[in-house]
Amino acid sequence: MRSKDKDVTLDSQRLRELDNQLVWHPFTPMSAYREEAAPIIVDAQGFHLIDAEGCQYLDGHSSLWCNIHGHRVPAIDAAIRGQLDRVAHSTLLGLSNAPSIELAAELVEKTPEGLNKVFYSDCGAAGVEVALKIAYQYYQQRSGSQRAGSSGSPVRDKFLHFDGAYHGDTIGTMSIGSIGRFKNLYSPLLFPVVWTSVPCAVPDQPERESEQLEHWTGELERLFELHHETLAGVVIEPLVQAAAGIKVQADQFLRRVWGLCRRFDVLLIADEIAVGFGRTGTLFACEQEGVAPDLLILSKGLTGGYLPLAATLVTDEIYDAFLGAPAAGRTFFHGHTYTGNPLACAAALASLRLIEADHVLRNASRLAVTLAEELAPLKRHPQVREIRQKGTMVGIEISRAGEAYPPEMRIGHQVTLACRRRGVILRNIADVIVLMPAPAMPESLVTELCQVVCESVAEVAV
Ligand SMILES: Cc1ncc(COP(=O)(O)O)c(C=O)c1O
Repeated sequence: MRSKDKDVTLDSQRLRELDNQLVWHPFTPMSAYREEAAPIIVDAQGFHLIDAEGCQYLDGHSSLWCNIHGHRVPAIDAAIRGQLDRVAHSTLLGLSNAPSIELAAELVEKTPEGLNKVFYSDCGAAGVEVALKIAYQYYQQRSGSQRAGSSGSPVRDKFLHFDGAYHGDTIGTMSIGSIGRFKNLYSPLLFPVVWTSVPCAVPDQPERESEQLEHWTGELERLFELHHETLAGVVIEPLVQAAAGIKVQADQFLRRVWGLCRRFDVLLIADEIAVGFGRTGTLFACEQEGVAPDLLILSKGLTGGYLPLAATLVTDEIYDAFLGAPAAGRTFFHGHTYTGNPLACAAALASLRLIEADHVLRNASRLAVTLAEELAPLKRHPQVREIRQKGTMVGIEISRAGEAYPPEMRIGHQVTLACRRRGVILRNIADVIVLMPAPAMPESLVTELCQVVCESVAEVAV
């Protein structure tokens, strides 16, 4: 949709020239990108993004899975402006700032039992790296343990992760990720890991789902028996592997993983970067199976989708292993310049308050029903292999007669371009179209989003 009274065509042309000349976009094949004239966003209103040509787009993927309340939300804008009038940034290295303390109190109260300490960083991958380093160091420093390299019990230097996992794009997080096209090239740089598969949810076939659950829990148990003495942690995306293409796990798998972690004395590291803040129906996904992980990582929706911030929460037991005289060398030597940035923490506090005040979780459960109903007709489309959904997270997998489309067709991407022509921004993961409306989005906009997706799939996937 184009707004009438804006004549910004020249500006937009110049922006496009400079974009093509100067900016290298992440996870983006640049040759194709430069041909596509992607929207250059200059403005936003509510749940819409507006580009330099004045075209308005419904933000159907929460600006890469982070937006919670829409854009230009008065309460969050005011919180950031209020903080700007005090101080924009000051370090957390040996100092503190008020918003990071207040936010820590809120997070400790709202997250599962036992997570009482908050370590800040500034993106999801960094938050996961923090968790990996803490887990590794913890096992060396907890009472009765041996330092790496000294004799005694084996060093805990391995992590277990799951097939399909995505935890970020840094060297450490690629090591525990398993999406081949993101990591294979870098294999020589990555550390060795132990991995297995997750049992998938099989809607309407509880027997098949529980068979899968038993099978993969058994496999996991076998790996624990083999490796538990050298495992520093099991890293999981609770309930849904998002970047795998919205792969929903079998009910109770997370709880089984937690049970095995406790039995074998291995830390459970829950990456709720994508699933946190209401996307699966509860504030945190772990709540649904009554699981209290040893480490929990939050980012993306933490600030309502406004500013970069991540938090790695840990138990007292883990934190205590890092205490002692400075000369004892137990300090966690990690932290980035903008760790615990006051503006980002102020935005996060405002967002958390809005989630309650606006009953966002209640809205999100209504949206989950709307998404399922509105997308139901697509299940009959011959080129739709599967629709996977948990809460407001949806993946629509496209294939032709059960076979993947040739990769050069970029069929998933073509569907998102068709959506864009209809005024909706979405992003695909290979041949999976991911819908992730903001949990606070009004129902009518979700209906519109689904209609556009249905029409775009029908146009492209023939
Ligand atoms: C589950 C999960 N973990 C980690 C990350 C990495 O977060 P970031 O892109 O902020 O580094 C992502 C990003 O999509 C994610 O989905």
